[in-house]
Amino acid sequence: MRTMELKGRTGTCRIMLGESLSNLRDYCKGAKQIVAITDANVRRCHGEKLKGLEIVEIGLGEENKTLATVEQLYKRLLELEVGRSSFIIGVGGGIVCDVTGFTASTYLRGVPFSFGFVPTTLLAQVDASVGGKNGVNFMGYKNLVGDIRQPEFCLCDFSLLGTLPEQEMRNGFAEIVKHAAMGDAGLFSYLEGSWHDAFSLRRTAIEKVVHDSLAVKIKIVSADEMERGERMKLNFGHTLGHAVEKATGIQHGAAVSIGMVAAAKLSVLKSGLLEKDAERLGLLLEAIGLPTSVGADRGKILDAIRKDKKRHGESIRMSLLEGIGKARIVEVGLGELEAVVDDMR
Ligand SMILES: NC(=O)c1ccc[n+]([C@@H]2O[C@H](COP(=O)([O-])OP(=O)(O)OC[C@H]3O[C@@H](n4cnc5c(N)ncnc54)[C@H](O)[C@@H]3O)[C@@H](O)[C@H]2O)c1
Ligand SMILES: [Zn+2]
Repeated sequence: MRTMELKGRTGTCRIMLGESLSNLRDYCKGAKQIVAITDANVRRCHGEKLKGLEIVEIGLGEENKTLATVEQLYKRLLELEVGRSSFIIGVGGGIVCDVTGFTASTYLRGVPFSFGFVPTTLLAQVDASVGGKNGVNFMGYKNLVGDIRQPEFCLCDFSLLGTLPEQEMRNGFAEIVKHAAMGDAGLFSYLEGSWHDAFSLRRTAIEKVVHDSLAVKIKIVSADEMERGERMKLNFGHTLGHAVEKATGIQHGAAVSIGMVAAAKLSVLKSGLLEKDAERLGLLLEAIGLPTSVGADRGKILDAIRKDKKRHGESIRMSLLEGIGKARIVEVGLGELEAVVDDMR
């Protein structure tokens, strides 16, 4: 097992890579009660390993990542008489982790309350479960309502990924490629040669890519937990990615893949990325089986960009690349973005 740490304003999150879910109790010492929040798929595949815990299920999909779900959870926690001596664990993908984190950090006015995550998707292991951002969607806006609070721990059991559909593995890889492209040139080269070893869950390879990917995120979040500047670099591929996701309904990882290719094109124009390195990014994403262009309604995508909560007037601050492994925040005009969206058809 390898461990990492993220020191945040609200405490330190210990990340265990390669630990087994069956050892979960060792990390909830002193808890009178452990409540596991999960979803139906995770329960079907791995419920056996949650025996003896109080299990609470939430509905599947983004449409359940809402305040209504949080309210149901508050009710359930009250019924279970969950208090300070209880431990709440989110066992699932990014949706379960985001909703669990927000519920646990607001219930009882957020008194020191122990919660942890067992991310069960690759995307949640390399991204959603680490960083302290918790939240839900509101009125069609993704992650509009939430807070920033670090869980006590994050337990990454790679064997849980064995039941994950291939498409979900690809979604996780989109975020890994993102971390490599904006923060670790060595990881990027490793992925070009060996992504498949990690994809097929070869132990040393999956541990390396999850570790290196998290190292990029942890370094940035430690420097700027509240997203005043540096943390925005993690949005590489996400400005257009979110817009494409909204306009076309394709999955987040796939949309981010398209967003990264577009952001790389903008990077060649605005932040000095070499054309050949933009091409490397596209080739790696294609090799993994992620989409790099979309034929969707341009108007809808532009509309979604205009609704971006990070937009300021007629321009938007985007994370662009200076080179593989180095990102910079750049002010991009909506017109420039429109030209790139045109190119994406
Ligand atoms: N908080 C953050 O910093 C952050 C970062 C990135 C993404 N996110 C959020 O994460 C969410 C997406 O997360 P996701 O991609 O994990 O989606 P998800 O939670 O919907 O999981 C994807 C699917 O896989 C299933 N699943 C989960 N684990 C499984 C397993 N081991 N075996 C079989 N099936 C399994 C789930 O039931 C679901 O159907 C989005 O809401 C996004 O906003 C948050
Ligand atoms: Zn993402």
